[in-house]
This record gives sequence, structure tokens and C-alpha cells, in this order.
Amino acid sequence: MLLQYSFDDEAKAGLADGRITIDADCRESKIAKLYWADSAGVLSDYMKIKELELNDGKATYQMKSGRNIPQTATKLICKMEEDTCETILEFKLPAAKLVKNEKPNYTFFLLTDIHGAGDYWQNKSNRDAAFADAASFSPTHIIISGDITNAGQAPQYEKVKEYVDAYFPQIPVFFTTGNHDHNTYVKDLSADLKALDDFFIWQTERNNRLGAKISDVTNCRYDTYFGDFHSIFLNASAPENKFGLGEDQRNWMEQKLCESDGNGLPAFVISHFPVKGKTGLVSLYDQQYFSDNDAVEELLNRHNCIYVSGHTHYNLDSDDPSVCVGKNAPSYINAGCAVWTQNGYDETGKDIYIPERCMGQCVEVYDKYLLIRGRDFTNRKFIPRCEFKIEF
Ligand SMILES: [Fe+2]
Repeated sequence: MLLQYSFDDEAKAGLADGRITIDADCRESKIAKLYWADSAGVLSDYMKIKELELNDGKATYQMKSGRNIPQTATKLICKMEEDTCETILEFKLPAAKLVKNEKPNYTFFLLTDIHGAGDYWQNKSNRDAAFADAASFSPTHIIISGDITNAGQAPQYEKVKEYVDAYFPQIPVFFTTGNHDHNTYVKDLSADLKALDDFFIWQTERNNRLGAKISDVTNCRYDTYFGDFHSIFLNASAPENKFGLGEDQRNWMEQKLCESDGNGLPAFVISHFPVKGKTGLVSLYDQQYFSDNDAVEELLNRHNCIYVSGHTHYNLDSDDPSVCVGKNAPSYINAGCAVWTQNGYDETGKDIYIPERCMGQCVEVYDKYLLIRGRDFTNRKFIPRCEFKIEF
């Protein structure tokens, strides 16, 4: 019986990257489940890391892409079930891998794609679960990166206002637009852009009232210095409804990034579309980025920033990383989806949906770093394969 964990970098505390090897005698077991644990057993606030198929009692799994070990974990546990019994293997994490269990200064959430008033699957119950779980952390603020509504209609914006006021009565909530706020995807029905503008007036007044001053709102783009970070919110649609930022907005973004470049902290840049090749099933969603992707990426590369996106409804509980931690370069975060998730395509090209799960990113702010922790809202647990550290 063996559970082995060979780390890629033995000396880097907290970094989970490495090869996990299972070699068990229980030939009856077909499935092995990996969990983070402490002396009391499996960490109850985490989902399982991964389920592996056993072949003659053996399996290997490579943890990669800069994932982190939870601060509270001291062991890796492997559970294998047979008809009559459960076999548990343990691997004690070496002292060099353990990190101090610190308390964050504060927490905020990155949500996306709430599709207000949409009625796919469990849209409403999942959105309620996401909002309720995020609110239970008493976050300083919430960021929602687009697809505010399902089809950009005035009654849908009214519903979103109701949800926000019900779940986050005293919490600032910052929105950006998504493709569903500009396009209805319904024949002969246009998005109500007046209702979209009115919604942005509402969110500006609401956030200002709650002490989160929004400045310079033009055509659904704006910025704020609420909290420690400069946050820059972009409108996902360039003129003529092309899903790009457009030159005017890129120029504005450049000016805004320059404004806070010298303050020693990264600025958050929030928009709906991912930057090509960075996060969220990138190999599959090859058409799902800005039409002016290269110009946007070139601009980001010249600044100290963290780029947050949504759109792909990406399943954060995946081997394809949802956070890309930049080394002397921007970091990228995909915020999952607060209503239902998607796991790429099957062999016929059809979408594989996971309607029962909804997810987002919990951001914990520490003195010298951020922990980005994927949160499963339906199970109210953290997602081990979505735990990343961004150092300042
Ligand atoms: Fe969406």
C-alpha cells in the first residue's frame, strides 16, 4: 500500500504542484478519491481534489499550473471504497511544504454570468445559492463580470436589482456588461440599451451611497478606488456591437492603468471576455475572446494588473486552470459562473453542461498576497484545484 507525493519544487512552501502516486493492494477498488486533510481527517470545507480511476490498484495524478495547498492542510488522503470496506491511505505533508495559517485582512467575491431572470435549469436556485453563500462571508464588496441579464430586457434588470438588494443590502456590488446584455439571442428582439444605461445609473448611485465611490462612468465603463485596489470596469461591447473594447476604451484603460501603476499594488481590470490562451478551458473556447484581443493583451502586459473575466461558464473544478499567476506579468482569473457551469464539448461538438453546480472566486486579501479560492456555491465548499496565490 502506497500513497506517494513527489513535489516539483520541494522547497516552495504551499505549492501543490507534483506527482501523486497510488499503489494499493485492494484490487477490487476501481476509484480512488484524493482529499486535503488535517489531523482530524478530511478538511470539511473543501471538495475532493480529484477522483481517479484505478488500474489494478494503481493510478498517478500530476498536480500542476501553480495550484496551492490549503493553509489548513497537513496531509493528503486517498480513499478507496470496496463493497464491504473503505481503505484510506495518508501522506503527511513535509514541514517545508506547510504554510502559516493566516487570517485575511478582508474578503471579496468575483462572480459572473448571473443571467438575471434566465430560466435555464436551476438558474434561480443556483443564483440564490451563490448570493447567499457569498453574503455569508460578509465580503467588503462583490464584482460581477457580465451577463447581468439573460437577454438585456428592463424587467430582467429590475429582478437583478431585487436580488442585489435582498442579499447584499449593505455591500457594494460592481457590474460590467456581457454579451447577453447587448444581444438577446432571440429572433426579432433587441437588447434594451436604455434599460442597461439606467441599470448603470442605479448601480452608481447605490455604490456611492454605500461609500464605494464610482468615478468617470461613460458608456458602462468606470473605475473605483474602493478598498486597497484600483478597479477598472470595461464595457464588453465596442461600437456596432462588436465584442471588443475598441480603440477609445483601450485608450481610456491605458490612462487609468497609468494612474495607479506606481502605487505598488496590482490594479484589477474586469471585463466579460477572457484573454486568449489564459484561463478557462482555453484550448476549447478558442473563439471566445475579444475581437481586439491582441491589442488588449499587449496593453495589459505593460502594467501591474490582474485581469478578471467570465463568459465561458467555466467549471473551476477542473484540471484546466482557472487562474494564471503571472511572473512579472499580469495575472488572469476566470470567475466561473454563478448559475450553471460548462465543461467543454463532447466528441460531436455539443456543449457538456453541469447545470447543478455554480461557482465563483473568493478573494482573500493579505498584507503581501491574495489567495484566490474557487468556491462551489451549491456545496458551500472550496475547490482544491482552484486555489492560487498572487503575490504583490
Ligand atoms: Fe454567460
